[in-house]
Amino acid sequence: MSKTDKNPTAHHSDIAETTPRHFRSVLSARLSRRDALRAGFGTTAGGMLAGTGLYGCSSDSNGGDSAPELRFESVAGQPGADFNGIALPEGYTYDLLIPWGTPILGDMPAFKPDGSNTAAEQAQQSGEWHDGMEFFPIEGSATNGLLCVNHESLSFSFFHGYRMEGGEAVSNRETNADDLPTNPDQVRKEINSHGVSVVEIQRVAGKWQVVDSGRNRRITGATPMRFSGPAAGSAVLQTAYSPDGTQGRGTLNNCGRGFTPWGTYLTCEENFRGYLTTQEDPVPEEKNRYALNAGGFGFRWDNVAGDASEDNDEFRRWDITATAGSASADYRNEANHFGWIVEIDPMDPSSAPVKRTALGRLAHEGAQPGRIEAGRPIAFYTGDDDQNEYLFKFVTADAWDPDNPDPDMLDKGTLYVAKFNDDGSGEWIALDIADSRLAARFSSQAEVVTYARIAGDLVEATPMDRPEWSTTDPATGEIYLTLTNNDEKGDDASGRNRWEASAANPRDPNNWGHVLRFREAGDDPAATSFTWDIFVFGAPAGADSTINRSGLTTDNEFAGPDGLYFDPRGVLWIQTDNGGNAVADATNDQLLAVVPGRLNGNAITTENQSELKRMMVGPGRCEVTGIVLTPDARTLFVNVQHPGDSLPNSNSFPATGAPAPNKLPRSTTIAIRREDGGEIAL
Ligand code: FEO
Ligand code: CA
Ligand code: CA
Repeated sequence: MSKTDKNPTAHHSDIAETTPRHFRSVLSARLSRRDALRAGFGTTAGGMLAGTGLYGCSSDSNGGDSAPELRFESVAGQPGADFNGIALPEGYTYDLLIPWGTPILGDMPAFKPDGSNTAAEQAQQSGEWHDGMEFFPIEGSATNGLLCVNHESLSFSFFHGYRMEGGEAVSNRETNADDLPTNPDQVRKEINSHGVSVVEIQRVAGKWQVVDSGRNRRITGATPMRFSGPAAGSAVLQTAYSPDGTQGRGTLNNCGRGFTPWGTYLTCEENFRGYLTTQEDPVPEEKNRYALNAGGFGFRWDNVAGDASEDNDEFRRWDITATAGSASADYRNEANHFGWIVEIDPMDPSSAPVKRTALGRLAHEGAQPGRIEAGRPIAFYTGDDDQNEYLFKFVTADAWDPDNPDPDMLDKGTLYVAKFNDDGSGEWIALDIADSRLAARFSSQAEVVTYARIAGDLVEATPMDRPEWSTTDPATGEIYLTLTNNDEKGDDASGRNRWEASAANPRDPNNWGHVLRFREAGDDPAATSFTWDIFVFGAPAGADSTINRSGLTTDNEFAGPDGLYFDPRGVLWIQTDNGGNAVADATNDQLLAVVPGRLNGNAITTENQSELKRMMVGPGRCEVTGIVLTPDARTLFVNVQHPGDSLPNSNSFPATGAPAPNKLPRSTTIAIRREDGGEIAL
């Protein structure tokens, strides 16, 4: 979750020296990839494009006996902040891939395990807090491709190293008496750790390794990018850096992900509120509704503004107070530069990322397409992950034409917000300035998409229990959605008074989360109605049936469902962000699997709960998030985010042995494989 501007310490050509380039100019490169794409580029996309027959086991639309069966035994829960490994079923192992600080670019600076790498070095290394990711095969290969990995945030407690004082771990982040950062290079390093890594990887003799490739790239909180869609060029995006409101710097808090069938990666900006400060009192509604305030998450990069080394307001811009600065340094709209879906062409390291404003501005989790079919529009589903926020979908205006892909397909279409009725039906409400409820509040579609949360309030969308990832069943086209938790039903701090339990969010409080699924009317991506039910409720195994509604046992109890991924074979993978609560006594965060096609359309109940199996448990204080299967189904990439978070002396994962200040815990991708080289899970 960080990003700044043009960064004088970032010297790799694609970070500091690239001239933003219109996506259309790279269309020819995409077209040349079209055949590979049709052959099943990207495992998820390959599955969505459907019926490619790449897999030995496949589900069909009837499910039942023809659906594949999970062939592994649930691993035991594994609790404890000091658990320093990865638990996997018998016969499985894993390799580490691009742990935080892995050199991928330029001078290939080695990681310093005490946290002392500089900002310039960090810009050439993988970032921290790995999150959503996607694998883009090169020429259809299952053993060579580009891995795009989000780096959501970092842990102040050890990102710059720590020292032990009186038995306590003390952060080496340099701060003043108010805990605000004082070291510009440390601030730039934080900015440079955020964003996305694009890394060419190859499997050699069974083991994945980084390729020193011209395609490797770091996109950070400072990387120049452009806006497109309804808000581009509008007043709400104007800043001193971009007086015409078309250019921005950096992407922040990159959480979930998505992809397009034309070969691009979508990175999703979630909690951007953590990085900006406003001293306004009262905070205007447009900022308050996005929870922007004085302190954020404590990053406060603005605090080193005015340093002699500052370039082009790289620090100044994080202060969005309307009266701060001067006409030549006005960043009151800088917060409007974040909270978007950002499109990246992984195959072209010189391309500028594009913020696609038609998909709305919110705390995005994921931007997952529904079923992709030639001749039909494509729907992208995106949750706004905060308590009592909404589920959105964007439907392209144009039908998908694989023979003539439009690189600006995400600029034209309709943004909808969901209303879940208690009878199992639902409606998509278009957020269009033509709606009189929106026209009474906003003056343009640019404002509607920029303040999509407020637009959702005005049309009375359904407040949800923190909508996180979605994924689409390749067999049925149903969309599954994680709702991670919500303990703030009932009262209202910000003027909204409609927070109450609903059939789609039935538990109050909901400390454990659930997975909901829905099906568009007529299986039409552009449908304005749908039906829904709840697939599984998270819960401790020992809870009573009002809480443990799906009959979970010690083999599959979970809380905080977050990452969610149907692989092309019909296996649904559920990742958790339990956050140290709810089931922490039973297990750290984990990865579960189930094949919904085997349940004959049923939800998970006491009768069939054994179909839900625990595949993996991560180290102490981590979150398990980010997942993709290779096209040969022999490797499952999974991210381990923030082991040792806030307690660095509890854990040194992935280093072995006792924690120490020269063995910092590191977020990492793990490549899970079977020891016999077989297909994952089936
Ligand atoms: Fe970054 Fe909503 O998880
Ligand atoms: Ca998430
Ligand atoms: Ca989360």
